[in-house]
Amino acid sequence: MKTRRYYLETFGCQMNVRDSEKMAGVLEHEGYVRTDDPKHADLIVFNTCSIREKAEQKFFSKLGRIKSAKKRNPQVKIAIAGCIAQQDGKKLIQRSPYVDYILGPQNIFRLADIARGDMPSPYALEENPHLTEDDLPSRRLDGIKAWVNIMYGCNNFCSYCVVPFTRGRERSRPSRDIIKEVSELGAQGYREVTLLGQNVNSYSSDCSFPELLRKINECTGIERIRFVTSHPKDLGDDLIYALRDIPKVCEHIHLPLQSGSSRILALMNRKYTYDEYYEKVRKLRENIPGIAITSDIIVGFPQETDDDHRRTLDALESIGFDGLYAFKYSPRPHTHAEKLDGHIDDETKSARLEEVLKIQNRSTDRINKRLEGGVLEVLIENPEPGQNDPSVVTGRTRTNKVVISPRSGDIQPGDRVMVRIVRARRHSLIGEIAQT
Ligand code: 5AD
Ligand code: SF4
Repeated sequence: MKTRRYYLETFGCQMNVRDSEKMAGVLEHEGYVRTDDPKHADLIVFNTCSIREKAEQKFFSKLGRIKSAKKRNPQVKIAIAGCIAQQDGKKLIQRSPYVDYILGPQNIFRLADIARGDMPSPYALEENPHLTEDDLPSRRLDGIKAWVNIMYGCNNFCSYCVVPFTRGRERSRPSRDIIKEVSELGAQGYREVTLLGQNVNSYSSDCSFPELLRKINECTGIERIRFVTSHPKDLGDDLIYALRDIPKVCEHIHLPLQSGSSRILALMNRKYTYDEYYEKVRKLRENIPGIAITSDIIVGFPQETDDDHRRTLDALESIGFDGLYAFKYSPRPHTHAEKLDGHIDDETKSARLEEVLKIQNRSTDRINKRLEGGVLEVLIENPEPGQNDPSVVTGRTRTNKVVISPRSGDIQPGDRVMVRIVRARRHSLIGEIAQT
């Protein structure tokens, strides 16, 4: 039988990257082989993101271009998966009739039906009650670092966010399934796991999130544990102490602030004030010296005044994040914020974004500069695709900073080495191996 090929392109967050590993696993289990060229594919899958309008536009322009693939080869099947699929559902096929299948994030396993030609309908958008028990085959992208889902969905309904509508209600995986997966990864040679959930602090299954971290700490082979994303409202002392006390848990937390104005935080339905957030940062730093804290900010939320924006800038100055993702507010379908009065014009959003980035760049430079001369533990990673310079090795510190160092001795991906930081740059540190 002729080899069947699939082309898979991923947009969006780590959650989608992980889902794509499962999509690849399911298709390969059905005998498909991956191709990097959509022209050679029998099945084209887009795993899409709808978090902001820009992410949607990126996908739709891609989809427009793929139309010709179908003209050239009417046999090719096109499947749209992920968050846009769930959000737009049937509208997608009305808009782009050359699309064959629409699969929501809870229906990855249905790719097997598509592969076998047994898919009874073009749509798979239902809730999947077995999502947390599913053990789908998976084709992981990297051999050192692995993403592991611990929970799916979100119950927070931040007023700007589409995720509760695309990924459904929050559900946690049983801890024994997670431990089994992590133990297998350790045995396969993986050294680092990043636990994934929209709000890992509200993990609740047969144990709490800090208890889960303690159990994962026992998994042989795994040397580093990370997690994303934490919601400030659920970050309790027990997690702070877990970060302090559990040896493999790395000293980094991504803790989205979103705004420095408590008035805007209330409109965002974030359920904390700026002062409460600041207090958590203080406690983290008091208990875990050297912890790296990164964050997300949205500028130009509806009704955000110059004074609210000033509070965000002041917050960035006083906290001093190690890194920041900053976004212009983008109205999303179904969300509460979309319906608010007082939307901000794009020019103001752009100007505010620029001010945020300027302050952040100064913070990043200042914090990284302090690392010069110090010696840090670096886990050597596989080179990024297309960046295979044999004279250097790259890896990350426990605080998640990228380190590039001239190769020395027989250093391999997966090794943990001590590196002296000789020069700090904004997005990476230049080091030299101090001790292997
Ligand atoms: N507009 C702009 N940014 C958004 N985010 C989520 N929804 C929106 C939106 N509608 C940002 C938040 C979140 C990150 C993943 O994306 O900062 O933490
Ligand atoms: Fe990820 Fe949210 Fe984008 Fe969905 S909408 S892919 S959950 S960032």
